[in-house]
Amino acid sequence: MSTGRPLQLAVLISGRGSNMAAIARACAAGEIDARVRLVISERAGVAGLDTARALGLETRTIAWSGATERLRFERALERALADARADLIVLAGFMRILSQEFVEARIGRILNIHPSLLPLYRGLHTHRRVLAAGERVHGASVHFVTAELDGGPVILQSRVAVLPDDTEATLSARVQTTEHTAGSHGVESGPGSMASRSRCRWWRILMSAGRVERAALVAAMLISAAWSQAAPPPQAPPPQPPQFVATYTIAWHGITAGTSTLELQSTSPQLYLYTSTDRAYGVFRLAFPHALRQSSRFRVAAGQVEPLTFQAGGPGNDVMAQFDWKSGQVTGMAKGKLLDLKLQPGTQDPLSVQIAIMLALQARDAPESFWMLNTDEIDRYEYRRQGQSTLDTPLGKLRTILYTSHEAGSDKTTYLWLAPALDYMPARAEQHVKGSTQVSLEIQAFTRR
Ligand code: GAR
Repeated sequence: MSTGRPLQLAVLISGRGSNMAAIARACAAGEIDARVRLVISERAGVAGLDTARALGLETRTIAWSGATERLRFERALERALADARADLIVLAGFMRILSQEFVEARIGRILNIHPSLLPLYRGLHTHRRVLAAGERVHGASVHFVTAELDGGPVILQSRVAVLPDDTEATLSARVQTTEHTAGSHGVESGPGSMASRSRCRWWRILMSAGRVERAALVAAMLISAAWSQAAPPPQAPPPQPPQFVATYTIAWHGITAGTSTLELQSTSPQLYLYTSTDRAYGVFRLAFPHALRQSSRFRVAAGQVEPLTFQAGGPGNDVMAQFDWKSGQVTGMAKGKLLDLKLQPGTQDPLSVQIAIMLALQARDAPESFWMLNTDEIDRYEYRRQGQSTLDTPLGKLRTILYTSHEAGSDKTTYLWLAPALDYMPARAEQHVKGSTQVSLEIQAFTRR
């Protein structure tokens, strides 16, 4: 697609200008049918201005020193854009918020580069917040600017894995490398990718709204196209569960009744053994003299958890189940009777379901429901995200996402406070029956292996 003359870009910066330089180099190399006509900094003396001059680009400083400066800045900016006959404005590390009037008069003609996987982490300090939340994947977004801060339609995104020893500086450096994708790697590409899907969808919406000049659209398309032609990103491998031991105290109607230890080990590549051992304290030993043990063996392939066997020992509650995914049956014994049930796609056992939730959240999916082996039946459990909260725990303050799990028709609801910092293991869990808390678990220790 060509508009006749190369598209004229005005790039707005506030500092170093490495994105501006990457765009200018891509234009100069003919990767984008565009030209950086003008670089505008809202601060005097920043490194990006020197870089722009060294690249032979025209620069302007329009100082913006306080909140009341916006109107003056935007008037001067309008004049500069008109002089430069700029078709498209690119905010490349521009750290000011333009007014609603300015933005709405140019819908589809302003792009922004934001260092997060929008809609996650709008605003400032994205790398710090991503680390604090224990995210596994992070990245950058290029989006159309609307009056909502970092809220406009996303054109394309880059992704990087968050590494266990990342600091704010290392993570930000890695994300920025992907922002400069015209000359490197990292931008998600290919049919069906989030980038190309959203590009097409928004292209159509904006076209039908008739609000966008063709040149601006072409520009966005060209920039997107050039970026997506870069080498395909190193795909973050589907997450594998961590190996860990987690210990919880168990309370029964508010009285501490024992401990529960959950241990996940990998027995060979993709195969895992997950065990839970409950030990009763004090008088509760009278009722439960032996440790209660459950175990699940499962396989993890392409981020999906597939249970193979499940065993539980308990008075009147013994289960020995084998999952045969080829025949689609689960067989064995439960409560002293033969078990022979039809597997539903994605069926979990009571232990593997926790790992399935963990992996879904790490892959940024929101779990909504699971079929689950429930002693001698397979039932559907609905999962609902209820919000988030920070809990005071023996491990310190933990940010958590609250989920409820409920089986239709049952009077039990389980509340799970899942902590990203614990790979989405629960920091706390409560079982409510008809609204009152019967059993609760609270994290005491969590050790990764
Ligand atoms: C870039 O990482 C960009 O994503 C971010 O500022 C950095 C500027 O670097 N932008 C924002 O945070 C916008 N809210 P640069 O000046 O070297 O291009």
